[in-house]
Amino acid sequence: MRKQLKDFIESIGKNAVAIIPAAHEVTKSYDTEFKFHQDPDFYYLTGFPEPDAIAVINPSSKKNPYTLFVRPRDPKMETWYGRREGVDGAKKNYGADKALPIEKFVSELPKLLNGSEKLYYRFGVDNRLDQAILNYLSAQRFKRLKTAYPPHTIIDPTIAIHEMRLHKTPDEVKLMQKSADIAVEAHILAMQTAKPGMNEAHLESVIEHHFRTSGASGVSYNSIIGGGANATILHYVENNAPLRDGDLLLIDAGASYHGYASDITRTFPVSGRYTEAQRDVYDIVLETEIACLEATKVGTTVKERQNLSIEMLTEGMKKLGLLKGKTKDLIKKKAYEKYYMHGVGHYLGLDVHDAGRYFNDHKVKNSRPFAAGMVLTVEPGLYIPPDDKNAPAKYRGIGIRIEDDVLVTESGNVNLTAKCPKHAEEIEELMAK
Ligand code: GLY
Ligand code: MN
Ligand code: MN
Repeated sequence: MRKQLKDFIESIGKNAVAIIPAAHEVTKSYDTEFKFHQDPDFYYLTGFPEPDAIAVINPSSKKNPYTLFVRPRDPKMETWYGRREGVDGAKKNYGADKALPIEKFVSELPKLLNGSEKLYYRFGVDNRLDQAILNYLSAQRFKRLKTAYPPHTIIDPTIAIHEMRLHKTPDEVKLMQKSADIAVEAHILAMQTAKPGMNEAHLESVIEHHFRTSGASGVSYNSIIGGGANATILHYVENNAPLRDGDLLLIDAGASYHGYASDITRTFPVSGRYTEAQRDVYDIVLETEIACLEATKVGTTVKERQNLSIEMLTEGMKKLGLLKGKTKDLIKKKAYEKYYMHGVGHYLGLDVHDAGRYFNDHKVKNSRPFAAGMVLTVEPGLYIPPDDKNAPAKYRGIGIRIEDDVLVTESGNVNLTAKCPKHAEEIEELMAK
């Protein structure tokens, strides 16, 4: 049994049963599907990669604490749609104590749940499964006093699972470092390949070719390859415009390695040299990034780090002539949001915007301090709209973000993406080669 599952079993205790579903395939068009993406909570606990599975975890059961419902083997379906583990594979390769065909799930529910006080299940994600569980509860209530009672307390299991996911184990850190290494190499390749006249799409393919040929399953989110003013669109994903001499190129791309995401942004000149105006903006973002990276350590709260980025970038905006007034007043009015409108970072793991709360005690105002084992991005940026009459003309249409992935440790932090050049001189040197 995986360590994650053992820890989860321990956390829910006796007299409880948890139902954790896998993801389903999603139709893209008619009879074709989007590339399958496993539910990260299910994957974290089971490692099982197939759709249409359900894990039922019962810590009180001596014989079968871990039952996995899976798609059964089926030669015809496997010829059309791919191999399946089936019930034997679920036990042999994924450590299930018991495995049953998924079709049996509904009829097994009374056997699995009756007699347990607590049900760990997250309503509101999978409508069909919600309905099956509600049908079971309602049917059992009509039978009260005649057979065993159904659970009387329903708890969201993701509270415990997400808290576990937030604190990475050494094995997870190894996978995240590998994901980061692959993404670093891809960004360096993009810097070496870019030139005026090339299409953004070309660099998207360079990056994703590197991901796939390096053992990553693909991207951890849709790559953002934005030349010129496209860099001022935060989630620009068209990636189909030609790159122009003199423009900057913002690339935000990360790999998915054994499910673990990396998430890197670099902004570099298409022709290999930053202009003076580009450097003005770049160095403000870089200085902020370095300070926020440094602040990503035990004890700093999420909010403190966000405020640091806001203070430094607001000062920067004043220096560039984008904002005028007292820093304190500008921050109070959120004047910076015109040019810096996102968070300075997020948790990173199986999800690119990973699971885990950003506050304590169920209260948003209690910002949470970083702790060893957390992995976060740090990604300040400045985005000056191309049509912003208020901005000095030389800065219009410049969009810059710099993003690294950082592991918090007992003694400080480790920048997992440190090998990706980010100082302007380093990038110019690399591109000149
Ligand atoms: N690429 C998504 C993000 O940086 O958060
Ligand atoms: Mn990113
Ligand atoms: Mn990010």
